[in-house]
Amino acid sequence: MSFKEIPLMKLTEGTVLFHPYISKNSFKNVKKVLSGRWIGQGPLVDKFEKKFKSMFGKKNQCLATGSGTDALHLSYILAGLKKGDEVIAPLFTCTATNIPFLYMGVKIKFADIDPDTMNISVQSVKKLISKKTKAIICMHYGGLPCDLDELQKLSKKYKIPLIEDAAHALGATFNKQPVGSISDFTMFSFQAIKHITTADGGMLCIKNKKLMQKAKRIRWFGIDREKKQNATWENDIFEIGYKYQMTDLGASVGLEGLKDFNKVLKHRKDIFNIYLEKLNKNKNIKCVHKDDGKRTHAAWLFTIISRKKDLIQKKLREKKIESNQVHFRNDKYSVFKNFVKGKKYPNMDYAENKYLAIPVHHKVSTQKAKYIADLINKIV
Ligand SMILES: Cc1ncc(COP(=O)(O)O)c(C=O)c1O
Repeated sequence: MSFKEIPLMKLTEGTVLFHPYISKNSFKNVKKVLSGRWIGQGPLVDKFEKKFKSMFGKKNQCLATGSGTDALHLSYILAGLKKGDEVIAPLFTCTATNIPFLYMGVKIKFADIDPDTMNISVQSVKKLISKKTKAIICMHYGGLPCDLDELQKLSKKYKIPLIEDAAHALGATFNKQPVGSISDFTMFSFQAIKHITTADGGMLCIKNKKLMQKAKRIRWFGIDREKKQNATWENDIFEIGYKYQMTDLGASVGLEGLKDFNKVLKHRKDIFNIYLEKLNKNKNIKCVHKDDGKRTHAAWLFTIISRKKDLIQKKLREKKIESNQVHFRNDKYSVFKNFVKGKKYPNMDYAENKYLAIPVHHKVSTQKAKYIADLINKIV
């Protein structure tokens, strides 16, 4: 076990579904940042972006933001989406994927899920796509990449951007390329319970280099921060920005997270694979997974689908083991009601009351994972 510095949960203790990963060095780094000049957006944000680019963005540009939601909203603006435009977006995701469209007046066409992966269904996207579609948004549920080959084909055919919500998918790959290096826009989240955290934060990977200056301006009200340092008036605001920036305080924690990332990912995958091996054998359970040789999983969530979901959850709770559905179909929320009248989502209907995520994180030992899987196999 490689996490010597962080005590694992004992077998007799309860098991929470999520737990933030904070490297030990972060404590002294935060102290250092707090005693310096830059606590907001400063040189550590630049350093964090550079390091992230070398690991995940590769040829894409990387822009750190205050949250994953900020990064998504920014990507929609950079993609040129405007009031009245139509997009195809996932029905099953964190509401953060779709809420920015409500601010922008963009019309959402929700696509159903693929029943094996709970990712966006390519078939459903194909049925919805038309000349009116201005972007496709996909979300890599639990850390398993969507079918990017097929989605890229559609994006090229219709000459519209593909935007990946990769909040769950740090460290995932598709066709051996890291998620972050592939599409027009890819967003990551460093919210407290993600693989690595900056307390709250996000990253936007951008394919088109020419968009980077604009992205930086929009991240800061529409102001060119570098020009502003000249302290002259020649610094007009000609496009509407907002405040989407990351802080050096957050970046100092994120940089340590990146150093430990491979270790964090390996441990998550070990836990994931224990569940997969043990629960795949159970005829009453379907494990949400796909192993087609094209994609590798980032092991953020391990999700099971079972008709006996409520019983499993109840029995796990009795042993103080948390489980949860984490995200819910977005058409259930009143704010999206204008987009879903009369629409049918049969795959989501089927999975709706059956899916359940169980604990995968650095504080779950491999021994505990075996115990949880064995327990579930006894329950159903
Ligand atoms: C799929 C998904 N998209 C977007 C977000 C939003 O990210 P953030 O919380 O960093 O704004 C989250 C969760 O936090 C998420 O799970």
